[in-house]
Amino acid sequence: MKIPEFEIFSNCEAETKEAAAKLSEEIEEGDIFALTGDLGAGKTTFIKAVVKSIGIDDSNSPSFALVNVYRGRKKIYHFDFYRINKVEELYDIGFDEYISDESSVKFIEWAELFPEILPGQYYQIKFEYVNNSKRKITLKHVQN
Ligand SMILES: Nc1ncnc2c1ncn2[C@@H]1O[C@H](COP(=O)(O)OP(=O)(O)OP(=O)(O)O)[C@@H](O)[C@H]1O
Ligand SMILES: [Mg+2]
Repeated sequence: MKIPEFEIFSNCEAETKEAAAKLSEEIEEGDIFALTGDLGAGKTTFIKAVVKSIGIDDSNSPSFALVNVYRGRKKIYHFDFYRINKVEELYDIGFDEYISDESSVKFIEWAELFPEILPGQYYQIKFEYVNNSKRKITLKHVQN
């Protein structure tokens, strides 16, 4: 895992987007990012800014499809586990194939809800709510 671990404080939405834009310069095909943390802490905001930096302006949280696919300067898969009730739903949409596609970069919101489906090696990005406009964002290497 090439991206160094970090811990930063973001004081506003724009700073979170800046951090995402900076990270997007370092992402590589095959990378998996598991985003965890509080409701409304900024996970979607972060991913939307990464998607924007590969050249795609309009993105949203995956709803019925459970996964959004973006093809810009890179290919990004955006999952959101929040609405998933059981792990079988992930098998049904072909999660295994998505996650093992080495030509894409994956971002998973609410990854902590189904830890058993996560691969052996990934980046964890934890979002913590400090106050109304302040967030702590921590990137860690996870190797199981
Ligand atoms: N420093 C900050 N960084 C990111 N978002 C911030 C910050 N300060 C305030 N906000 C606001 O917090 C909200 C973050 O919402 P967002 O949808 O990105 O969170 P989320 O982690 O995806 O939530 P959910 O768990 O519901 O999916 C936005 O309304 C944004 O404007
Ligand atoms: Mg979200």
